[in-house]
Amino acid sequence: MDMDIREGTLTPETFAGLRAACGMPELEPALIERAISSSLAVFSAVAGSRTVGMARLVGDGAFVFLLCDLLVVPLWRRRGIGSLLVETVVGRAKTFMPSGRAVVVSLFSASGREGFYTRLGFTELPATGLGAGMQMFCL
Ligand SMILES: CC(C)(COP(=O)(O)OP(=O)(O)OC[C@H]1O[C@@H](n2cnc3c(N)ncnc32)[C@H](O)[C@@H]1OP(=O)(O)O)[C@@H](O)C(=O)NCCC(=O)NCCS
Repeated sequence: MDMDIREGTLTPETFAGLRAACGMPELEPALIERAISSSLAVFSAVAGSRTVGMARLVGDGAFVFLLCDLLVVPLWRRRGIGSLLVETVVGRAKTFMPSGRAVVVSLFSASGREGFYTRLGFTELPATGLGAGMQMFCL
């Protein structure tokens, strides 16, 4: 498979296109631009001239690291691109920490996708000593 993972090249337009291709609702361009510029790292999976996937690492670069917006367009799925993007994001998170210090990368799994992440080394919450992940929607 002729495909590269690149960092820092994803445009807001391509991000929006990947979201649309994955059936996700449209977002205002200004929000997409802010999401990219505020990320610790943004990765694209590029096959030829086409961007077929992406993932972002967001956080404070110290204690909080979140893997988000893992997207692979339908025709390119089940070829290992999603897994490679996850591994790339985790590897990038490690670069923020001094040698020998562990980094904790969190994520919110899509419903039913938990097994994909546990096979890549993530622990499903709640787990021993750790409660459930929680969130609040605020208007
Ligand atoms: C989730 C998502 C990113 C996975 O991307 P992907 O490129 O298909 O991921 P991979 O190819 O690495 O792995 C997907 C599955 O294909 C399998 N696979 C990988 N290479 C394969 C191959 N060559 N032949 C057959 N199966 C293969 C993997 O084992 C994995 O199986 P699993 O789901 O049972 O764990 C993609 O389905 C997607 O974009 N979904 C919509 C958006 C979404 O839900 N994002 C995640 C939000 S949490």
